[in-house]
Amino acid sequence: MIIAIDGPAASGKGTLAKRIAVHYGFRHLDSGLLYRGVGMAVILSGGALHDKSAAIAAAQAYDPGRFPEDDLKSDEVAKAASIVAAIPEVRTALIALQRSFAQSKPGAVIDGRDIGTVIAPEAEVKIYVTATAEERAGRRVRELQGRGGLVDAAAVLADIKARDERDMNRAVAPLKPAPDAVLLDTTYLGIDAAVRAAIDIVEA
Ligand code: CDP
Repeated sequence: MIIAIDGPAASGKGTLAKRIAVHYGFRHLDSGLLYRGVGMAVILSGGALHDKSAAIAAAQAYDPGRFPEDDLKSDEVAKAASIVAAIPEVRTALIALQRSFAQSKPGAVIDGRDIGTVIAPEAEVKIYVTATAEERAGRRVRELQGRGGLVDAAAVLADIKARDERDMNRAVAPLKPAPDAVLLDTTYLGIDAAVRAAIDIVEA
């Protein structure tokens, strides 16, 4: 059983995917961490983000244990991830790992941008999670404020819009709902209500 959860930046798909995986006792993969890992490797190598060869090398040598997850969560790394994610060879290098994860028993929940369209078009369940850019930015601001520190809300919204723009307009695996995905708009849903709605979709 494969559950594919796709959607734009900060739509809450990661939290949703984690909770659905716990509910069904399935394994969960946050595919964004793969692209963040490649972005981080390029940042650390001192190379320019548009230096394709550094990104491709990092993707081909991808090691899931290289960076602690917390180190990959910054907005700087998110931006780097969305730049390297537009390079076709980077995406190709990360396909096998995701497809083999998708075969996990008794099931896999994978969240990302192209899980229902490219990685697992055969997934039994596809959910495309959305929310307005303003609501997504608001959630991100509250999350950053929770970790302490000053947050520039206008900059967070601009970053999210810029990342969506890149993710939706790239030539390879652009962010879009699979034709058979169920749309879940969480603009007015808290996380518990979103999880219930997702479980209703899985069981429909
Ligand atoms: O958690 P958030 O939605 O903010 O970001 P993420 O899911 O960790 O993804 C970071 C970036 O990686 C995205 O903006 C995409 O450019 C890229 N990504 C992708 O291209 N394909 C995926 N399956 C997952 C992430």
